[in-house]
Amino acid sequence: MINSTVEFLKLKIEETLGDFTPNIGIVLGSGLGELADEYCDLAIPYSEIPGFEASTISGHKGRLVFANINDKNVVMMQGRFHYYEGHSIQKVVYPIKIMKKLGVETLIVTNAAGGVNPAFNPSDLMIITDHINFMGVNPLMGENDNEMGERFPDMSETYTPELVELTKKVASKLSIDLQEGVYLAMSGPSYETPAEIRMARVIGADAVGMSTVPEAIIAGWAKMKLLGISCICNSAAGVSNVSLSHDDVIHSANIAKDRFKVLIKEIIKNL
Ligand code: HPA
Repeated sequence: MINSTVEFLKLKIEETLGDFTPNIGIVLGSGLGELADEYCDLAIPYSEIPGFEASTISGHKGRLVFANINDKNVVMMQGRFHYYEGHSIQKVVYPIKIMKKLGVETLIVTNAAGGVNPAFNPSDLMIITDHINFMGVNPLMGENDNEMGERFPDMSETYTPELVELTKKVASKLSIDLQEGVYLAMSGPSYETPAEIRMARVIGADAVGMSTVPEAIIAGWAKMKLLGISCICNSAAGVSNVSLSHDDVIHSANIAKDRFKVLIKEIIKNL
């Protein structure tokens, strides 16, 4: 299946853009998809791509967008697949494998997350330095594709330290404040209980969400350079007394989105 998806996409790219190899891939999380509206040379809805599923979540558009941004060829997922939507974990990470096959060497994953660290405020941006997989599944389960990566991949530097440093430098130049920390992934779709968030804090998490970790595992396995950025959209359950809602998450992402776009564009320029 992977080969026919790649062939389909390469044909579409060639028809529309000619000689275009995307070296940078970006997964745009909840409320952060606007970058792909601003830069769009070719957009293909997921529903038209063989092997892709359709995205079901509001705030997620569901298309693959190719664009030249600051002289770099980029492929963007405007909306991602979540495990909680009922997709198999293999379908969730399928587009990341496709990006790798298309030529992507550097992957930027973004998401909306809850702040576990009490020092974080809604609309803060956080560089992900590491993750904890609490989803209960791993996308590498099953037969291993030895061509893409090894059976037991090392995950000790999944988030590329040079990209963390570059992001800090770029943010400081732009006077954008950044947090940094560990992202913990739960399956969702229910938000966490206050007890689960107390546990998350004790085991070293700064933010919690329902995505990103499967994609990061594939990036680490396939030896892609990886940068992760969370938009902290709310205080996680019990961290403040406010109850959680998807509308509030989207609202906070909206407040952060311009800052987020400026940051991502400048990172791309410096890659
Ligand atoms: N928990 C899990 N996922 C999330 C949250 C949260 O508090 N906020 C945004 N995505």
